[in-house]
Amino acid sequence: MHDFSITQDQSPDILYGDLISAARALTDDEPDAIANMANISALIWQYIPDLNWAGFYRVVDDELVLGPFQGKSACIRIAMGKGVCGAAAATNRVQRVADVHAFPGHIACDADSRSELIVPVCKNGKVIAVLDLDSPLPDRFSLADEKGMTDLIAAIANNLG
Ligand code: SME
Repeated sequence: MHDFSITQDQSPDILYGDLISAARALTDDEPDAIANMANISALIWQYIPDLNWAGFYRVVDDELVLGPFQGKSACIRIAMGKGVCGAAAATNRVQRVADVHAFPGHIACDADSRSELIVPVCKNGKVIAVLDLDSPLPDRFSLADEKGMTDLIAAIANNLG
């Protein structure tokens, strides 16, 4: 239904620029947060290489609950502050982890995961969810990925909660 012309072998600026335009087009007229998280997970899964998991955890009653995602089935509930996702949500700071085995308290939903990028989703100054990207490659996520994903989430956060 949607056909975006996004080429993966481009500079991060162009790739993330295209991805953000596509994310806006998918979510701009849609207020349903779950539908939007589902489409954004699928978009990232399709266009960002070397991922084994891409999706969202939502903050519900001060804990993280599994939301829409692509990849293997995953842990359903994560306490605030626990694991990489819980750390991102509790501190409202991006977590870019080059080696998950070196992260104290990392929660191994998929034993294949070697590196992770977690971006908090904020609305009205509150963390309402996190975007969780996992890779089977060590040190998969660059500073450009962190910036690109942070910009993407900021562009569409109003329609994610
Ligand atoms: N590894 C994450 C848990 C979520 S799964 O990887 C999908 C963490 O430590 O928070």
